[in-house]
Amino acid sequence: MPRAAKTQWICQECGERFPKSLGRCTSCGAWNSLREEVINRPKSARIPAVVEATVTPGLPVQSLPLAEVATDAFPRLSSGYGECDRVLGGGIVPGSLVLIGGDPGIGKSTLLLQVMNHVAAQYPVLYVTGEESAQQVKRRGERLGALAEQLYLLAETDLDSILLELEHLVPRVAVVDSIQSIFWAELTAAPGSLSQVRECTSLLMRCAKRLHISLLIVGHITKEGVIAGPKVLEHLVDTVLYFEGDRFQSYRLLRAVKNRFGASHEIGLFEMGESGLREVTNPSQLFMTDRAQITPGTASIVACEGSRPLVIDLQALVSPTSYSSPRRTSTGIETNRFLQILAVLEKRLGIPLSKYDAYIATAGGMTVDEPAADLGVALAIAASFRDRLVDPHTVVIGEVGLGGQIRPVPQMEQRLKEAAKLGFRRAIVPPGGVSGSPGLEVIPVQRVLEALAVALPGT
Ligand code: TYD
Ligand code: MG
Repeated sequence: MPRAAKTQWICQECGERFPKSLGRCTSCGAWNSLREEVINRPKSARIPAVVEATVTPGLPVQSLPLAEVATDAFPRLSSGYGECDRVLGGGIVPGSLVLIGGDPGIGKSTLLLQVMNHVAAQYPVLYVTGEESAQQVKRRGERLGALAEQLYLLAETDLDSILLELEHLVPRVAVVDSIQSIFWAELTAAPGSLSQVRECTSLLMRCAKRLHISLLIVGHITKEGVIAGPKVLEHLVDTVLYFEGDRFQSYRLLRAVKNRFGASHEIGLFEMGESGLREVTNPSQLFMTDRAQITPGTASIVACEGSRPLVIDLQALVSPTSYSSPRRTSTGIETNRFLQILAVLEKRLGIPLSKYDAYIATAGGMTVDEPAADLGVALAIAASFRDRLVDPHTVVIGEVGLGGQIRPVPQMEQRLKEAAKLGFRRAIVPPGGVSGSPGLEVIPVQRVLEALAVALPGT
């Protein structure tokens, strides 16, 4: 008689296991995140017996002196897109495992098909589609002009078949789109469950590392905005990228959140068009309003995403409130920072903002979460309050302290260079030895009040 299957309750958010169901995970605090999963992993992984051969103390058996370890035998592969290569740290590393997350419909499959088409011009590539049929992928490929001869397509969800194909074809790069659609028949848990996702990923990884295949895995993200089974997967893989953007806007952002082979927090910019994704090589222009149409309450900042400086316009709107407590809305700027800056303006500059509604938004809806945007937010609000124009050829950079002082921010040189490149003539910056760029006058300020006097003279 078969034994009753052993089950465990697994938190789908953090991967913690429990013997019984709980309303809330005691490990990560998520509510209703526990699912019952059958644990029947085959006991094939035996602990190897201790080597019993005669031992010569002081001599290694398998380890090597560090100096003798061979460095990369294979160079990185270019994805065909400079924006994508930079995010990867210089291209696809042979044998690496990359996880790409993003909202449904954001363009993950499109991006990967385009990248694979480029790689397939030189090397064999396998694209495994577990969600769309081969015909659907082909139709999209035709639209994108992705017709490289060595681009192999496999519409399959069974892990064993996928591993078998990897063993036979030994492509240089393989894509699994998506990991949540793949299942390993040895497990009874449903596809997409934490145990399936984890086991499938680690088996794919073992196969890919052994055969030196670079593996790109698509992962869906949950409503909380993280890849399902996040901690577990993110620890397993070498690189985690997120493909983000506003579905109503055409631009898309590829962001590295973890990278064993490069800097994290790098971003790459793309634009979705009729024939797929196109790189955006002059990104700042995407987030800038036409200079001739600037309205009061606009200030330009230079944000730094990874090593990439971006000029972004901030727009503020301040108007008398008709509510008992004024409205505060921010798009692209963290709400707490926004509220803090409003408080500083009220207390230190005497602007009576508690009687006014205040809105702030970044052009293009781009999220800026670094303190270097503070001074820009403060000036945009003050300019809107006074209904004045900040000179459209001035950028503002700096963190605002609670006392109204301006604090330095990192990567000033890069920020100023980008501003100069885009034709800005003045930069209002934090104090402390910043040299200007050709054609860009740099004005250091100690306090918000001083910045205001420079940006909006006569106020
Ligand atoms: P897709 O790559 O299927 O998204 P994901 O794999 O992340 O779910 O992207 C599909 C969206 O992109 C769809 O809404 C249509 C749009 N799209 C274009 O606008 N132009 C194109 O050339 C392609 C192929 C897709
Ligand atoms: Mg897809």
